[in-house]
Amino acid sequence: MSGQISNLTEGKKILDVQGLTKHFEITKGIVKRVAGHVRAVDDVNLYVKAGETLSIVGESGCGKTTLGRCIVRAIEPTRGQVNLLVDDKWVDLTSLKGKELRAARRHFHMIFQDPYSSLDPRMTVLDIVKEPLVYNKLAQGNEARDIVLETLKVVGLEENHLRRYPHAFSGGQRQRIGIARSLVCNPQLIVCDESVSALDVSIQAQILNLLKDLQRDLNLSYIFIAHDLAVVEHISDRLAVMYVGKIVELANSDEIFSHPRHPYTEALLSAVPQPDPTRKSERIILPGEVANPANPPSGCYFHPRCLYATEECRKETPQWREVAPEHYVACHHADQLQLKGMI
Ligand SMILES: Nc1ncnc2c1ncn2[C@@H]1O[C@H](COP(=O)(O)OP(=O)(O)O)[C@@H](O)[C@H]1O
Ligand SMILES: [Mg+2]
Repeated sequence: MSGQISNLTEGKKILDVQGLTKHFEITKGIVKRVAGHVRAVDDVNLYVKAGETLSIVGESGCGKTTLGRCIVRAIEPTRGQVNLLVDDKWVDLTSLKGKELRAARRHFHMIFQDPYSSLDPRMTVLDIVKEPLVYNKLAQGNEARDIVLETLKVVGLEENHLRRYPHAFSGGQRQRIGIARSLVCNPQLIVCDESVSALDVSIQAQILNLLKDLQRDLNLSYIFIAHDLAVVEHISDRLAVMYVGKIVELANSDEIFSHPRHPYTEALLSAVPQPDPTRKSERIILPGEVANPANPPSGCYFHPRCLYATEECRKETPQWREVAPEHYVACHHADQLQLKGMI
């Protein structure tokens, strides 16, 4: 494992997110008085290296999609920085406007969850995959068509698919179209938001393998968002666990699976089916639901559901700290707890 950590350390950072925060306003009445804020993403720090996959996991409502959308500037963050290495220079995507932002967009792309609603049903595959090329003014006409065809082949589709509409394809093929669209401008970072969650298990495996092959061949970096740890186990280099807008634990993926340091991570891991049926895992059923991000609990946001919470957890916000090399956690008791991993 230490070998793997040092390999990861060698990779060059291409994305560095600092203090990223997104608060949605809750408005009331016809004058739209601001009645509160949903802290969907709350002071997130993370980085991604060239050619690696950072997965982001957590229950529904934890802020994963909002974080992904802020990173690709699909929505405006409330504050924070999204620094991307473009042609060996750092640019803060949150500070870009107009033409500059448009020019930066070719370097990253987000693939959305639902392969049925994310492709425009009135456009042919050619037009869907070509659109980012035209938007970014990288190619048009026959040249664009040739690039689209080449990209379709890379994701396992064929020339005769060019003129068809999305409804003619299965879920897995639609996700391949989505992947082709994300690749066509030759980006360095792809954010995959629950990109395989809607697919059958066998198709999931095919798409995950395709993503891995593409990563190896094109040195792509992925931020891979999922609510299910079983899905990310084989694709992740590092893993971030999110709870109510905050990252509560982040480390090398093997390290998280074998030695989780946050009680929330332990609970998520206990829900992953064990490949070896002789090894029984005891599923930790968390009481209650994800805390309301418009009105989070005091102290550690996880304390009302935590099996190990103490008075300190109810009162004090835990600091984000490094407990082992490149292993970060926000839990008061991370040093004392002996939590159960999977391996
Ligand atoms: N446009 C929005 N306006 C208000 N609240 C939102 C908006 N989008 C998301 N939220 C809220 O932000 C929180 C995080 O949502 P989301 O990022 O979709 O979580 P996840 O992807 O982890 O399920 C949720 O409480 C959700 O209701
Ligand atoms: Mg989501």
